[in-house]
Amino acid sequence: MNFPTFETLATEQQGNALLVTVNRPKAMNALAQQVVEDLHTLLDIVEEHARHGGGWPVRGIVLTGAGGKAFVAGADIREMSAMEAAAASAYSARTQDLTLRLESLPLPVIAAVDGFALGGGCELAMACDFIYATEAASFGQPEVNLGLVPGFGGSVRLQQLVGPARAKELIFTGHRIHASEAERIGLVHTVFSTATEMHDAARATIEDIATKSPVAVANAKATINATAGRTTAEGLEVENWSFRQAFGTEDMQEGVRAFLAKETPSFPGR
Ligand code: CAA
Repeated sequence: MNFPTFETLATEQQGNALLVTVNRPKAMNALAQQVVEDLHTLLDIVEEHARHGGGWPVRGIVLTGAGGKAFVAGADIREMSAMEAAAASAYSARTQDLTLRLESLPLPVIAAVDGFALGGGCELAMACDFIYATEAASFGQPEVNLGLVPGFGGSVRLQQLVGPARAKELIFTGHRIHASEAERIGLVHTVFSTATEMHDAARATIEDIATKSPVAVANAKATINATAGRTTAEGLEVENWSFRQAFGTEDMQEGVRAFLAKETPSFPGR
């Protein structure tokens, strides 16, 4: 998969994983509008391959920040300071759309957080399928310090992950919490001692997933997303539809054939 040279992102294919690094370390990787546009362009390319069966050259994305101090320290406050309400609303909508695209990408996306994941940075991480962090990572929604509210999905996703009461406490106080506390309340999935350990684990998770049917993984992700917030009965209906769809795939035929023949499956990805 070929990517253009991005102004604010670095990309590196590592085996089956695509490492995407937000690369504005001097501004703590703040989500300037150019970062948002570069991420949209990157997703255009990844989605195009997935949609047209480009052979699944990437089986998962690891999203991280450059410089070792921050994942992403939020929306770009300097850029926002020149915005009026209409421009701010457009910035919010465009970035919310990015979080929705990440969430619905037919590939797993892991946020690898070392340092600050604040405001829009915490929101970007929460749009990933799960969050790995180092012991040096910290999380928060400090918008109230600026007279703002979360604008890139934090009001919705934080409560989904940690419950409305904890989400309110974090958003009302703007407090920053360490990785261990974020793990305890369910915001972070796993905490690692070092960035190297975290990145090795993220890559290993993608390589593990890469041995499975890409179509089944994509369907599982879509099903979990589509059932969130529904009643159990509604969710089971969606799951039943998904299960039925799986029976029409070549991957399912290959997986079942290989199991019965006591062989390792070779999934065609269709
Ligand atoms: N936007 C723009 N620039 C930022 C930034 C941001 N969100 N965060 C940090 N920077 C810049 C600083 O201005 C500074 O630039 P200069 O060297 O040119 O002065 C540089 O990054 C380094 O930052 P600090 O000197 O402040 O570094 P520190 O180690 O003392 O503190 C920090 C680090 C705790 C992350 C602190 O920079 C900070 O609090 N940043 C803002 C965090 C924040 O409020 N985020 C929420 C933004 S609003 C939002 O995201 C709304 C939304 O939901 C859409």
